[in-house]
Amino acid sequence: MHIRSIAAPLLKWFAGNARDLPWRRTRDPYAIWVSEIMLQQTQVKTVIPYWQRWMEQLPDVESLAAADDDTVIKLWEGLGYYSRARNLQKAAKLIGDELGGRFPRDLVGVLALPGVGRYTSGAICSIAYNQPEPLVDGNVARVLTRLLGIEESPKDKPVADRLWSVADELVKHAVTLQKPRQRNASAFNQAMMELGALVCTPRKPLCGDCPLKGRCTARKENKVETIPALGKRAAATKRRFIGFITVWRGEVFVQRRPSSEVNAGFWEFPNWEVDAAATAEQLAKANLALGQAEPLCVINHSITRYRNRLEIFVIALSRKPRLAKLNGKWLPVAQLAEIPLTAAHRKAANRFAS
Ligand code: ADE
Repeated sequence: MHIRSIAAPLLKWFAGNARDLPWRRTRDPYAIWVSEIMLQQTQVKTVIPYWQRWMEQLPDVESLAAADDDTVIKLWEGLGYYSRARNLQKAAKLIGDELGGRFPRDLVGVLALPGVGRYTSGAICSIAYNQPEPLVDGNVARVLTRLLGIEESPKDKPVADRLWSVADELVKHAVTLQKPRQRNASAFNQAMMELGALVCTPRKPLCGDCPLKGRCTARKENKVETIPALGKRAAATKRRFIGFITVWRGEVFVQRRPSSEVNAGFWEFPNWEVDAAATAEQLAKANLALGQAEPLCVINHSITRYRNRLEIFVIALSRKPRLAKLNGKWLPVAQLAEIPLTAAHRKAANRFAS
């Protein structure tokens, strides 16, 4: 089988099976860029409402460049990996300041934007401009390693290079099949990702429904469960945190994370990383000069290679404490909904309010 023979049946399948996603109704490179950045570490169904809100409030590069930090943070709250949003805004400012407000029109120009790598630039140029630029993400890597029967990990450099080169050959071939009014670079790249998302899934792929089933090496050799090989994963690190919701006359105390840290600009309840022996009482006494902490909930939260456990305690106060060592503010409980909280602390706030 020549790999090129997958292009026509895959395009046909996509024409009949593509999900109707809101960013598929536009060719605006800005809108597609925002969707691709949001989709990088987040599922489609989560992204949809975020993308819609973002596009209503920040409909173009100019509005993003001019937006204040709090607007951007609030629109991103809950998506995580906030550096993605900061890079979006940095890139929008660069487009305004250095490119006369014009979104770059080719791979080299798009690739030069902060936060944009090889995958994202390939996605923007193919989907927005229908340029025959390849892309390989996790879905595409899975589809191609199975089709080709590649048993080495797609994370190994030689394998990754080969996948990019096959993807390049395929998207260029797809464009040669293009009829008037078709956009085959866009359709082909999205079809590969769509097949990976809907049919050629990591576990229990729906091979019976696959338009490429007769062309798949992994299927023929009974290896769909073992391809792609999972690379070695970095070991997860467990971390324990204790945090306090201090309540005084319907107000709670919150702190803002400093600009040097992850989740910069987000708010959270005072909290500390602790070892297994620590207790909330000791911690409250040492850091807040307060006692009487009542357990509220435990939030388990994974981020990159960390498995964080956040134990939240409530301290109800009859007198306003000084909290002199802390840099934060008192806020009416109802206003917690209006400030951006980190994901774990948003869960804690919801538990507290209910
Ligand atoms: N994942 C990220 N972008 C996508 C797209 N445009 N189509 C399908 N899956 C995607």
